Amino acid sequence: KKITVTVIKADVGGFVGHTSVHPELLEKARGVLSGSPLLIDFHVTSVGDDINLIMTHELGRNNGEIHKLAWDTFVACTEVAKKLKLYGAGQDLLADAFSGNIKGLGPGVAEMEVEERESEPIVIFMADKTEPGAWNLPLYKIFADPFNTIGLVIDPKMHCGFTFEVRDLIENKKIMFNAPEDIYDMLVFIGAPGRYAIKRIFHRETGQIAAVSSVQRLNLIAGRYIGKDDPVCIVRCQSGYPAVGEVLEPFAHPHLVSGWMRGSHSGPLMPVSLKDARPSRFDGPPRVVALGFQLADGKLIGPQDLFDDPAFDRAREMANLIADYLRRLGPFEPHRLHLDEMEYTTMPMVMQKLKDRFIDLRLAKAQKAQKEKGGA
Ligand code: 13P
Ligand code: 13P
Ligand code: MG
Ligand code: MG
Ligand code: MG
Repeated sequence: KKITVTVIKADVGGFVGHTSVHPELLEKARGVLSGSPLLIDFHVTSVGDDINLIMTHELGRNNGEIHKLAWDTFVACTEVAKKLKLYGAGQDLLADAFSGNIKGLGPGVAEMEVEERESEPIVIFMADKTEPGAWNLPLYKIFADPFNTIGLVIDPKMHCGFTFEVRDLIENKKIMFNAPEDIYDMLVFIGAPGRYAIKRIFHRETGQIAAVSSVQRLNLIAGRYIGKDDPVCIVRCQSGYPAVGEVLEPFAHPHLVSGWMRGSHSGPLMPVSLKDARPSRFDGPPRVVALGFQLADGKLIGPQDLFDDPAFDRAREMANLIADYLRRLGPFEPHRLHLDEMEYTTMPMVMQKLKDRFIDLRLAKAQKAQKEKGGA
């Protein structure tokens, strides 16, 4: 029997501002999902201002009914958000109506279909105030770096390595890389997480799915800047896959990700428990939560709030130090993102206003030379 784990997330209104989700929305979401005969089990949670629907079923990936259920849930939550006048009600629902598959309509989706093993531990990562490429560095470390994952060296079932599916989010292309032999080539791409994002990872010997992330880019869908696509990622653990502790280990060192205030800043990704997943300082810094579940015939046994561990206190401290440092740079790069990555940019407006005050130096020089030639 194959079980599909589907995680679909959306921001349909923030409480207060962009910091969190109002409990009434979560209640509504639970109400809608519990009424559905399609699901084996579900868990509704939130990280920052994003609602995450974690669902299990037997209908496979890209199932229209499951996607519609998620869409209808978000629509129902949007009604509540509108009633409470929450901030940005319906923010991530870009289409007027559902049309077959939720991909491309705004919400983020990560799904994997698995033949449930004798024991099937999974970790679901959910981040707010960042983008899908934020998983590149940790996924690389988990599945390709022996300094992070000793299992790549000493577990005979992992020694063969993993295959990475990388997406070009601008040109909508994909390419497969095998670790370890292709890692130098792969890093050329995944080191640019604003454009190239790891979509899926497979076990090389079995071909089985190991990890999957949501890689939607809202602004490309909408054709305008409308916020970063706070991403989710599902990772299978143990017995041929990295141990839970190997999967969490990269987050002990908070790496810099794009997002934070107005989706236009670089900041450290802080690993937090659910209760601390309410980014407020400068709308951040970006947060990541890790929930662990054991699948049991599709039932979600859990969650275990995995960053609720004092062993991650130092990472949080380091993230706060990095945040202090970066905030001092104010509107300067590299705290503020590079121009073409900024979400709320005033550049065209300011440029238009000042266009007559710009002097073209090459033109001025040519005119001067012309004049001198004429005078001679
Ligand atoms: P235990 O001995 O606690 O089961 O741990 C085994 C293991 O693989 C830890 O990564
Ligand atoms: P969200 O993408 O989480 O809604 O954040 C947007 C924003 O502008 C934060 O300052
Ligand atoms: Mg928001
Ligand atoms: Mg968000
Ligand atoms: Mg967002």
